[in-house]
Amino acid sequence: EQIEKGGYDHFMLKEIYEQPSVIKDTYRGRLHANKGMIQMAGVEDNIDKFTNANRILIVACGTSWHAGLVAEYIFEEFSRIPVEVEYASEFRYRNPIIYPDDVVIAISQSGETADTLAAIKLAKEKGAFVFGVCNVVGSSISRETHAGAYTHAGPEIGVASTKAFTTQITVLTMMALRLAKAKGTMNTSDYQRYLLELELIPEKVEEALQTNEVAKMIASIYKSAPNCLYLGRGYNFPVALEGALKLKEISYIHAEGYPAAEMKHGPIALIDEHMPIVVIAPKQNHYDKVVSNIQEIKARSGKIIAVVTKGDTQVRALADHVIEIPDTAEALTPLLTTIPLQLLSYHIAVMRECNVDQPRNLAKSVTVE
Ligand code: AGP
Repeated sequence: EQIEKGGYDHFMLKEIYEQPSVIKDTYRGRLHANKGMIQMAGVEDNIDKFTNANRILIVACGTSWHAGLVAEYIFEEFSRIPVEVEYASEFRYRNPIIYPDDVVIAISQSGETADTLAAIKLAKEKGAFVFGVCNVVGSSISRETHAGAYTHAGPEIGVASTKAFTTQITVLTMMALRLAKAKGTMNTSDYQRYLLELELIPEKVEEALQTNEVAKMIASIYKSAPNCLYLGRGYNFPVALEGALKLKEISYIHAEGYPAAEMKHGPIALIDEHMPIVVIAPKQNHYDKVVSNIQEIKARSGKIIAVVTKGDTQVRALADHVIEIPDTAEALTPLLTTIPLQLLSYHIAVMRECNVDQPRNLAKSVTVE
C-alpha cells in the first residue's frame, strides 16, 4: 500500500497531486487547440441527439452531482441548452417528466452508484438518450448508457473524490464547447480562446497546488472549528458545495456551502467571531458583489478565508487569509478554485487525526439505496 501511495501519506493527497496529469489524460485525443477542434467519439457519433435536444437532464450523486451543477452553468452559457441537474435518488422516485428529445447525462466516478443506475434505467424506459460520464472503464453505468465519455482519472482510492471531480468538469466543459461549435452558439474567437485556455489548465492546476503550505497553515488555525461556511457565486457556487462536502466527509466538521448572495437570507445569522467562512472570490464577473458579501461578513467579525486571483488587492485588504490561484477564463475557474479547498480539508482532517482515506460511515461507491 505504501508503494501504491507513491510516497504520499494518503491516497487522497496523491490523487490531489495527480490532477495536472490526469486532466492531460482527459484531453488526450480530444482537445486539439492548434486545429481549433474538440473531438469526443461518444459525442461525435450522437451529435444530432445533442444539437436537437430541447433540454439536458443531468443525474448524479454527491461530488458527481456538484460536477453536474458546474456543467449546468457551462452548458447553458456555451451551448444555450437548458439544463436541469437532479439528485439521482430524487429523480428516480418522482415520476419525472422526460421527453424523447431530452438528453440525459449521468455522471459517476465509480459507475456503480445504485441511485444513478436506477435513474438511467428510468430515463431509458421513457425514451431518452442517455450519455454517461464515468471514470471506471466497463462499469455498470458505462454499460447501461447509450454512449459516453470516460474521464480517464485513473483509479481513485480515497473515499473523498478529488481528481474524479476535476476530470468530470473537464469532460463536461469539452462537451459544452463541442456543442457550442455544432450549434453556432459561441463566436469563433471565444471558442478558440477557451481551447487555448483549456490547454493551460494542467500547468495552472500545478501552480494552484503550490497553495499547499498556506492551506496547511490555515488548517492549523481552524482545525478545531465546529462549523464552517463556504460561499461562492456563479460557476463557483457548486465549488462552495464541494468544498463543504469535502470538509464534512473527512474531518467531520459541520460545513455548509451557499451561493454568496443567499447569505443574507439566513446563514448570516450564524456569523460571529468563531465562524470561519471560506469565500471563493476570483476576479471575474460578480467580483464586486462578492467583495460586498465579504464586507458583510467582516462587519459581523466572521473569519474570512478567501480564494482569490493572483495579485488581488481588494479582497486581501479585507480577508483574514488569502489563497491565490492563477487567472483563467471565468468558466474554467472551478478547476482551479477547487484545488486549495481539497488541500484545506485534507490538512484539517490530518490534524484532527481522522482516517482521511476511509472516513467513518462512508463507502467509496454506494451500490445500495
Ligand atoms: C465524494 O467525495 C463522495 N464520497 C460521494 O459523494 C460520491 O461522489 C457519490 O457517492 C457519487 O459516487 P459516484 O461518482 O461513484 O457515482
